[in-house]
Amino acid sequence: MTTHIVALGGSLLRPEEAEQRSQWFGQLRQLAVHLEGNGRKLGIVVGGGLPAREGITLARASTSDSYRLDTVGIAATRLNATILQQSLLDIGCNVCPIIPNSTEEATDLLDAHNFVIMGGTTPGHTTDAVAVALARDCGAPHCIIATNVSHVHDSDPRTDSSAKAIEELTLNQLAEITGTEPLEPGESAAVDPVAVKWAIEASMRLAVLDGRDLSILEDAIEGRPFVGTLIKVE
Ligand code: UTP
Repeated sequence: MTTHIVALGGSLLRPEEAEQRSQWFGQLRQLAVHLEGNGRKLGIVVGGGLPAREGITLARASTSDSYRLDTVGIAATRLNATILQQSLLDIGCNVCPIIPNSTEEATDLLDAHNFVIMGGTTPGHTTDAVAVALARDCGAPHCIIATNVSHVHDSDPRTDSSAKAIEELTLNQLAEITGTEPLEPGESAAVDPVAVKWAIEASMRLAVLDGRDLSILEDAIEGRPFVGTLIKVE
């Protein structure tokens, strides 16, 4: 049975929008029940979202050491992973009760569980890169990056209103857009450059899609055409 790996952006937990948040969690629980019913296995790597940004901002008052700030960010990702883990345990899904500390540990835990949910691992990258490493380690066919934008764009749509959505590109073309320099602690980008580098090294196909609409995530998991950006090896 194929294992699927999803990087779930922390912004999708929507700390700022109570009503949409509870709808989204309800849909996610439904999707989990459906996937488990079909015998699917899923590794979910959850981002830190608002608590990561807030925690890193608080910590910056007393340190500018990137390793320490990343450690704060990782704690936030593990908090968000725990929220998701407890939500799915609550409805009786076969979710691993441990939040693994490494992708190797997560790969082992996927043997006995339909869902393994984790956050970050070590400083120097974001949860996008952790998801790529987990996909590589457990032999997944691709890594899905569910975020809060519809596609990868040819420039940053937050600052450039003429940015164009891209439906398909290669990993090397993606690397030209993201660059190859690691991000600063708490800095966000469409896809983490370290994740792109690791995907190139592992010849790992990526799918970037809008995780606010969980039907799109389901399409990608089920191997159907999906709305978003498909990133081919070459
Ligand atoms: P995220 O993975 O949440 O960053 O990690 P993001 O891509 O901005 O994701 P969203 O906004 O949740 O979608 C948050 C911070 O935690 C540290 C980094 O400082 C990162 O910026 N981090 C995370 C690590 O150092 N290592 C990890 O494995 C994961």
